[in-house]
Amino acid sequence: MIPVDVAAELTGRRVVLGLTGGVACFKAAEFCRLLVKAGSAVHVVLTEAACQFITPVTMQALSGQPVFVSQWDAREPNNMPHINLTREADAIIIAPASADFIAQLAHGRADELLSLLCLARPIARVPLLIAPSMNREMWAHPATQRNLRQVVRDGAQVLGVGFGEQACGETGDGRMLEPEQLLEELTASLTPNSLLGQHVLITAGPTAEAIDPVRVITNHSSGKMGFAVARAAREAGADVTLVTGPVALTTPQGVQRVDVVSAQGMRDVVVAAAENADIFIAAAAVSDWRPAHAAQEKIKKDGSGHAPVLEFVENPDILSEVAHSPRAQSGELYCVGFAAETENLQANAEAKRVRKGVPLLVGNIGPSTFGRDDNALLLVDDEGVMELPRASKRVLAKQLVAEIARRVSGDAA
Ligand code: C5P
Repeated sequence: MIPVDVAAELTGRRVVLGLTGGVACFKAAEFCRLLVKAGSAVHVVLTEAACQFITPVTMQALSGQPVFVSQWDAREPNNMPHINLTREADAIIIAPASADFIAQLAHGRADELLSLLCLARPIARVPLLIAPSMNREMWAHPATQRNLRQVVRDGAQVLGVGFGEQACGETGDGRMLEPEQLLEELTASLTPNSLLGQHVLITAGPTAEAIDPVRVITNHSSGKMGFAVARAAREAGADVTLVTGPVALTTPQGVQRVDVVSAQGMRDVVVAAAENADIFIAAAAVSDWRPAHAAQEKIKKDGSGHAPVLEFVENPDILSEVAHSPRAQSGELYCVGFAAETENLQANAEAKRVRKGVPLLVGNIGPSTFGRDDNALLLVDDEGVMELPRASKRVLAKQLVAEIARRVSGDAA
């Protein structure tokens, strides 16, 4: 079997980046830089108000492309930048989108180049993403909320806003998403929706089992692979719930995250969430055992030279339990397991697939993945074995999600 080809979504894309009047224009500069770094050709369009916050010179230097501010720009041979910029575009993203600009869009106004090109875009082919940015009162105002509903009805995708301190000194909703989050949103919008409508439940990270209030036993696991899979599944259009043990990672954009500590805690959340899931991917490194009795107070060193002897009990096997549930057995819930081995990867992965009762098992060599940003995977199912050669966890996660989508859709040939 040959892995499906997964292209980097932003490489070679033409993106129109529109800036409107708002202090978040400074974040748009960084976003532009990230887009260029990802391999996109970025065509920046500023409204007159945006020019009060950032100069075209900055955006031209960052994008490496001519910047547009007026629909009367005579540099275009046909004098029609609104047509020329949109016909070849893969996406238009307005970041920041002010309350006033959103109101203009809601009314189909076209009195500036940016609103004009939004109206002139080929609506069926070129997605329009709106990243609002405004004061919390303006955000909450019924007129703004009504306008947002209208632009969504008219085919735009409105991104969320952040909560926090605002430039005006107030605190609340209305901050523009961070550049990295905008990049994730744009990537998602350009990714084929192979998991649209699917609810994907994912476990990630280690679990930590209490010995006493200050000590735990745990496994090596950064959570990076599970988080990358969560991000890739969401980009493929899935509704994603990520149940994670203690990790130091940022939640992927648009993913619902539930933090747990112990295997028992993870099991309880997963078993309940699995009732509504279509796909379960167990990427967590769950502790196989836990101390039989967690001490209520810190166990003291008594100076005798003798260490305490701990008694362990086995933790529930979350994957096995879910994989043997009626919904999984009837095929309503597709289960995917991971195996971190140190040797004989294929034989161990095949044996684990049978033992866990899952249709797909993903093997990797533990010590060559722990904490790293890259990995190599071996997919084992009843069709055989597929190698996903060493690559970044991000790329592997996208390949794995594409493979899962093929199997779930029944198109696994
Ligand atoms: O048995 P082992 O730990 O090697 O199995 C690994 C697979 O089973 C992983 O998918 C892991 O997330 C899952 N697992 C689990 N609950 C456990 C142990 C492992 O869900 N208690």
